[in-house]
Amino acid sequence: MMIFVTGGAGFIGANFVLDWLQEHDEPIVNIDKLTYAGNLESLASLQDDSRHTFVHADIGDTKVIPELLAKHQPRAVINFAAESHVDRSIHSPEDFIQTNVVGTFHLLESVRSYWNQLDQQNKTDFRFLHVSTDEVYGSLTKNEPAFTEQHQYEPNSPYSASKAASDHLVRSYHHTYGLPVLTTNCSNNYGPYHFPEKLIPLMIVNALAGKSLPIYGDGQQIRDWLYVKDHCSAIRRVVAAGIIGETYNVGGWNEKPNIEIVHTVCALLDELRPREDKKSYTEQITFVTDRLGHDRRYAIDARKIERELGWKPAETFDTGIRKTVQWYLDNQEWVANVQSGAYRDWVETNYAERT
Ligand code: NAD
Ligand code: DAU
Repeated sequence: MMIFVTGGAGFIGANFVLDWLQEHDEPIVNIDKLTYAGNLESLASLQDDSRHTFVHADIGDTKVIPELLAKHQPRAVINFAAESHVDRSIHSPEDFIQTNVVGTFHLLESVRSYWNQLDQQNKTDFRFLHVSTDEVYGSLTKNEPAFTEQHQYEPNSPYSASKAASDHLVRSYHHTYGLPVLTTNCSNNYGPYHFPEKLIPLMIVNALAGKSLPIYGDGQQIRDWLYVKDHCSAIRRVVAAGIIGETYNVGGWNEKPNIEIVHTVCALLDELRPREDKKSYTEQITFVTDRLGHDRRYAIDARKIERELGWKPAETFDTGIRKTVQWYLDNQEWVANVQSGAYRDWVETNYAERT
């Protein structure tokens, strides 16, 4: 018995691989293209672990993926691989279409032909879990109820549109071909190994480097935040017990405006690593030009996964954010190594035109 994970060198994928191997002895083949967001240093602790096999490949590779499936005979494929940063999708959407839409399509085709030739029992037991996002549902006003699984898709950015397209393809492979698929739609994750282009890790590393903390627009946009290890446990639960063809919303019941998140990060840093001048890190906050088409509010109604599968998050925001800030303080070398090459170029592109 073994599973395939795609995108397992990224933020959530790496946390999932580490988490899975802490909970199980079932081996993982981890397939990742190693884009700017893929970082094998996050998996350094598995270097001598025979349960983890890393393969440098693209999910859209129609030669390599079928060969890997035939060779390893996984009982499940968990698809994390994607281009994931909304701002990058606004500047250059093409990679998002290539990986999130075309790549997912090719992966589905490879998996479908592998699954078709399994014997009846293995066919019945097989699972394809597609990891998706709450952003496919679009934006909520302040008082609208949180997204349920029935909420209509209204993606607003090239990123969320590409994820929505991939969700639809996954759904269609179940409806048309009977492929045993599951989809999870999760809210904003945070925690260890998060690439410092996203809000929380960017604020931590900029604060420590004495740089400005750029808040888009008025900072009142609301996101629901989930500690990444809770997302991992939700995915494990859905693979184990989810009903084929169903989707599950995953969230932390932690809706917060961005400005509050940044104030919380600053307060923790003031406590754990005070500035030399004893002033608060909040002094570094700067309001900058808003993201184009910026979604105002996301909120997840995670009652279905709790009711049907018994999953709920273990961390509160207070416990999770403290662990996260502490992790970044303890892992400055990981941060320094990540802040090279492509990441530096991106910072230039994204923030140069914001006042
Ligand atoms: P990430 O950008 O940190 O990692 C993505 C990984 O996929 C990287 O390791 C990258 O090298 C790899 N990859 C990219 N294109 C690939 C390709 N064509 N073939 C193989 N590998 C490829 O992303 P993340 O934040 O870890 O997100 C993982 C998944 O979870 C994504 O599908 C994302 O849409 C979804 N998601 C993320 C969040 C979040 O808050 N980060 C929330 C909900 C859902
Ligand atoms: O909701 C789930 C999604 O969460 C995932 O599908 C995406 O892959 C993931 O990147 C994340 O998307 P967001 O756009 O919500 O995350 P990001 O960290 O980029 O931004 C969070 C909020 O903070 C958003 O409202 C924009 C704002 N922001 C972001 C950055 C990078 C700022 O105000 N300043 C910044 O510098």
